[in-house]
Formats: sequence, structure tokens, C-alpha cells
Amino acid sequence: MADFEKLETADEATHSHSAHEIAVAVSERKRARRKQGIGLVIAVVVACAAVGGTGVALAGVSGQHDAIVVAVPSGTTTPTATPTPISAPTSTRAQPNGSAQGLQIDIDDPNSITTLVNKQRPLPKDFVPKNLVKLSSVGVPSVNDHSMRREAADASRELYDAAGKAGYHLNFASGYRSYELQTELYTEYVEQLGQEAADATSAKPGFSEHQTGLAVDIFETSTDCILEGCFGKTKAGKWLKENSWKYGFILRYENGTQDVVGYEYEPWHFRYVGKDVAAAYHESGARTYEEFVGAQAAPDYKKP
Ligand code: DAL
Ligand code: ZN
Repeated sequence: MADFEKLETADEATHSHSAHEIAVAVSERKRARRKQGIGLVIAVVVACAAVGGTGVALAGVSGQHDAIVVAVPSGTTTPTATPTPISAPTSTRAQPNGSAQGLQIDIDDPNSITTLVNKQRPLPKDFVPKNLVKLSSVGVPSVNDHSMRREAADASRELYDAAGKAGYHLNFASGYRSYELQTELYTEYVEQLGQEAADATSAKPGFSEHQTGLAVDIFETSTDCILEGCFGKTKAGKWLKENSWKYGFILRYENGTQDVVGYEYEPWHFRYVGKDVAAAYHESGARTYEEFVGAQAAPDYKKP
């Protein structure tokens, strides 16, 4: 696919791997892990995430969000409550985690940095964040120069700098993805893996956090484990999990939370929610954003 050409010409990969090497390495590992050939898909993930931006309208996404705004009087931002356990799938929403109650959290507005997107909560058709900026414009290495929302891009720079001081050279493999790009990726996954396996790792178009411009996939340039579960066991992966909250990010798809978040463990996928919310999330001990805000579990897509 033409995206390989883009990888080969990308000039951000100035570290220990070239962009092409990364794409190939990722594709090989994915193939080995799944025993199926989805290398092209992963190469597209790495290559294309910044390509989108046109927001193609496709049928079938409702864009409906249930309303929940956790707005509590100011001066009560110190988290105190213990987290509620991760709930099994339910049809009713639980109460917000106590730690979320002192914060302004709007999970419904797709323009809010605290919006919640999952298999039960699609984005509106054609949603495109308004303030996308190239990661390169804020000095963050990104294969093929991906974009993120301004707030998330600035926070990414802080995270990148802090990681560098700790000895980890990060590269941001995927940021904003248009609806169109997600359609391409998801279709490839389904073709290669079948629907069930694809749904465990790739969001249907309209249901991906990447479309918010607030989610990012991160790897460390000296490790061989890229976009794999083993990243969580690397020093860089552990550092990110332990420190990303200081810069406003949460690890979105933790190990063993598929019944709530809808996806397998993705130790590379971080979501920007802002520093206050990320700090409260970290303090709370919550393992899913759904639990933290009291939203229902989203193990699967809602019935049309
Ligand atoms: N891999 C995540 C779930 C996405 O496709 O958005
Ligand atoms: Zn991701």
C-alpha cells in the first residue's frame, strides 16, 4: 500500500529505528503473535494516523451520548473515596467514583477533554476536533507526523521531555485518526482476523478514541516491543503507566479490563483527560475510565 512509501520518507524517525524498520518490526510481531498476517494493518496504523482529517460521513453511527456531568462544588478536588470495583457489564450506570465527584467531568461533549468514547458511546458523525496540531510542531517525534488536539499535543511534549529525562526516548505512533482512516484500519483488521478478533483490538469507525484527537499510541525507540502487550513489562512501559498521569494522561485499556472497556490490554494507548482528572484517576486506583466516571461497562457495541 502507498502508506509504506510514506513510512520510508518520514523524517521523524531519527532515532534507533527508521520509520520503515518500525513498520516492518511491528508487522512481524503482530503476525507472530496472532499467527495471522496483519502486518499491513499495523503498518497502516503507524503510517496513516496523521493522514486523516477529512471526516467522511458514513451511515450507522448514532452519535448519541447519555448525559453525565460530574459537577461538584469547587474546593473539593482532593480525592478521598476508595474506588469501586470494576463492574461486570450492566445495563444501568453506576454512581461516579468518589474521586471523580470533585471535578468537572463532561463525558458527553465530544469537544470536552473528558469525553468518554467506547463501544456504547460513539462520536457524532463527521466529528473532527477543531484544534489539531502536528506533534512535530511541538517538538514531539511522531512517525509520519501525527496530529493531536492542541492541549494533548502540548501535554505530549511535557510527557516526552519527562520520559527523556528518565532515560526513555519515546515516539508517538498514532494520534488523531479520521473516521475515514479508522474505517480503513478496522476493515483491514476484520479481513485479516475475522470480526471477533478485530473487535478486541480495533474500534469500529466512529467509536475510536483516536478520533477525538486525545488518544495516542506510544513506543520507546530502543525497545523491540512495539504496540504489543509486552510493552507493559518494559521499563519504558512501566514508567509511562506510573508517570503519565502527571502530564494528564491515563492508560486506557488496562490488562484484564476487556469486560468494561471492550478491548484487550493495550499498554501503549494513552488518553489525555487533563492533569486534574488524570491525577484524581491515578489517586483513585480506578482501572477504567468507565468505572471512574460511573459509566456503564462497554464490552460490546450497543444494539442498533
Ligand atoms: N485500538 C483502539 C481500541 C482503537 O482502535 O481505537
Ligand atoms: Zn491507540
